[in-house]
Amino acid sequence: MEVFRIRGGIPLRGEVRASGSKNATLPAFAAALLTSEPCVIENVPNLSDVRFMAEILRHLGAEVEELGSGSWRITAGEISSKAPYELVRKMRASVCLLGPLIARLGKARVALPGGCVIGQRPIDLHLKAFSSLGCEVKVKEGDIVVDAKRLKGSAVFLGGRHGSTVTGTANAIMTAVLTPGITKLESAACEPEIADLCRMLLAMGARIENTGGHHLTIYGVQSLGGCRHRIIADRIEIGTYCIAAAITGGDITVTEADSSHLGAFLDKMKDAGITFEEHQDQIKASLASSGLNPIELTTLPYPGYPTDLQAQACALACLAPGPSIVTERVYPNRFMHVPELSRMGAEVAIEGSSAIFKGHARLSGAPVMASDLRASAALILAALAAKGDTWIQRIYHLDRGYETFDEKLRSLGAEIERLPAEALPKDFQSNSPKLASN
Ligand code: EPZ
Repeated sequence: MEVFRIRGGIPLRGEVRASGSKNATLPAFAAALLTSEPCVIENVPNLSDVRFMAEILRHLGAEVEELGSGSWRITAGEISSKAPYELVRKMRASVCLLGPLIARLGKARVALPGGCVIGQRPIDLHLKAFSSLGCEVKVKEGDIVVDAKRLKGSAVFLGGRHGSTVTGTANAIMTAVLTPGITKLESAACEPEIADLCRMLLAMGARIENTGGHHLTIYGVQSLGGCRHRIIADRIEIGTYCIAAAITGGDITVTEADSSHLGAFLDKMKDAGITFEEHQDQIKASLASSGLNPIELTTLPYPGYPTDLQAQACALACLAPGPSIVTERVYPNRFMHVPELSRMGAEVAIEGSSAIFKGHARLSGAPVMASDLRASAALILAALAAKGDTWIQRIYHLDRGYETFDEKLRSLGAEIERLPAEALPKDFQSNSPKLASN
């Protein structure tokens, strides 16, 4: 296990390249199971979640080769329909293997993913979509067992209490593309990562209308071919660096960035006092000369403010003049980062699904604990702005979703070191059990 030591108070300046999107890569890897022909996927980020998905595909029988410079080739010749618990439990996103396995093999057995620290993470909408397409769905000994002998195109509704489901939409699309007949998806998630998946499936020969919208029509085809697909930039990573610029009083240009995927984020962060300059595929962020303003935002499914940039906004809200209110509508309990921010001096109260920040905190370095991927990013942002040293434990969470985050921050002038856990000052050592990843 490793820890980060971060010395705060340094304005970050310079340029970083946005990596490929984790949340577009994982369904794209799964989609490669829909054909026995090779799929070459480019601009894949170097992340532990990606390597883990590659391992699961190999376990299923696919040939998975890392070609270098972010390109991978996946050839799913003979594949098994079973993804076991010891693999699935480590990464929830493996649930999006169900769709391709059902479509390709007519059956699937995948362990039910557990919950995680950001919420209960049900998959009822996924299973409802499979049933709507004619599948027989059972839960047996902790596994989802699907028999899809009679797949038939139909209307599939994907809306839930907290909006649509992103990976549920990916699963429904990846099943429907090989389902005989016409499938109409209603209330589908329209995150850019779903549009990117559709782009890949179209290149493989799928017939999908209105990609990127909430209502998609899919005409089932007999089979799909291989493709070459380039993953979109990671909008969450881009947003994280923009907040890093503002929280340290510096300026950061993110290249290979697509601002069209960040509408709600840019809108809210401009209100918060971040200045943005956008040129073609670059976004430059800096703190406005007038400084920060109180933050008021509510996370919503796309195109609303992204829940995956909520924790990072909380870090900024510690410093902004208060009161700031951050409300979480997708995962109402997604505030594991808040007690850790309080340890650094933030004055914040959780009221239901909102975090209310008094503001103007003078953050000071402290030993803190990462609990999930985006909370880790929030703690790093706070540490970069804090006075003194911050030690962050359980940084394996961060490595799941941010490519070489510490290297990129060092290139911007940050004092951040990745150290073995033994380097932690003795009175900071924590021996509580490891948290599950989300
Ligand atoms: C995807 O998760 C992302 N992960 C998450 O990013 C992201 O936070 C989330 O979408 C929302 O944008 C990947 O794409 C791999 P959901 P997913 O199904 O698909 C409820 C990160 O940090 N729901 O869209 O699992 C659910 O409880 C991760 O990169 C049901 O009720 O999320 C939640 O409240 C974290 N029933 C809401 O819908 C279902 O069957 C959105 O969940 C499915 C979901």
